[in-house]
Amino acid sequence: QELKLNLEQIEKGGYDHFMLKEIHEQPNAISDTYRGRLLADKGIIKMGSVDNNITKFLNAKRIIIVACGTSWHAGLVGEYLIEEFARIPVEVEYASEFRYRNPIISKDDIVIAISQSGETADTLAAIKLAKANGAFVFGICNVVGSSIARETNSGAYTHAGPEIGVASTKAFTTQITVLSLIALKLGNLKGELSNSKFNNYLQELKLIPSKVTEVLKINTEIEKIAAIYKDAPNCLYLGRGFNFPVALEGALKLKEISYIHAEGYPAAEMKHGPIALIDASMPVIVIATKKGHYEKVVSNIQEIKSRKGKIIAIVTKGDTVVKEIADHVIEIPETEEAFTPLLTTIPLQLLSYYIAVMRGCNVDQPRNLAKSVTVE
Ligand code: G6P
Repeated sequence: QELKLNLEQIEKGGYDHFMLKEIHEQPNAISDTYRGRLLADKGIIKMGSVDNNITKFLNAKRIIIVACGTSWHAGLVGEYLIEEFARIPVEVEYASEFRYRNPIISKDDIVIAISQSGETADTLAAIKLAKANGAFVFGICNVVGSSIARETNSGAYTHAGPEIGVASTKAFTTQITVLSLIALKLGNLKGELSNSKFNNYLQELKLIPSKVTEVLKINTEIEKIAAIYKDAPNCLYLGRGFNFPVALEGALKLKEISYIHAEGYPAAEMKHGPIALIDASMPVIVIATKKGHYEKVVSNIQEIKSRKGKIIAIVTKGDTVVKEIADHVIEIPETEEAFTPLLTTIPLQLLSYYIAVMRGCNVDQPRNLAKSVTVE
């Protein structure tokens, strides 16, 4: 027993929990994901699995992304990335819905399956169905040699390293990194993204790990916010555009490990329902970074404030407008709008983590949840 405990402590690398360790591993995990792929100085993205199937990718009429849980949220970010850069229509499907819906799949479709474990039963079944209907299936997995990695026609590993905490953290940001690489590469090859724009994006992507490191440094500030809201029964997460899926993921993290009821919503949809829930006891986490429909998010924040909701805003460093209205602001470094999810996700992971710890929850193994769901 003692030996087991010591071993576990060593494995946690000095952190109290695997989840915290994995949150802090993200700068390295992201660099590992693009090592050998992102050749920013040469202006190239090298991805064997995409290069070897490049005609299929360039001729794809549609990309269907299938996944579950956090990987599905990464898929939603992928939709924004691929449509923005490569201008290929994307649909994002819950694997469990897709597999039973008699979906329309053709040989001109590419199906991208995203899975950390590579063992999720519904995702695996969706892949088999897509293959049987003639689609080319590409996997984005973390676990090398997993069932999904073997079942797909081709794919790219995230190289995030083992993820032990049940709540996914570094798998999510590295999945988004792979999707960014694919979207940028296809955008450039299709002529949708000029060489100079493409090069700028590559240079910026290279800076992301150091910017993630910067965000991780504000953990004590986030811990203070966690202490204020740890007993809230409900929590609302809002974001728009690239950060709408981040709002969903932020809410999922909180639900998973702290058992607080949380909902993620596209900010503009708030007026169609969630606004009725807002009162002085409702914390609302709003992603309000510059460039991403900023003015519109600011007016959403004003709507919350006038109903006395408590606002925790994720803003771009140097922001003054939101600072005036929000109860708390968490600053992240400036980056391209398309890459903001890689930064805005970090404070939300930390917030959930600290709240869960303060509530005495089992952070690494939350009740009723499994790391990989191998049954339907
Ligand atoms: C479970 C895990 C989640 C994960 C989801 C999909 O619910 O608890 O963290 O996002 O499965 O798993 P996958 O391994 O396919 O990404």
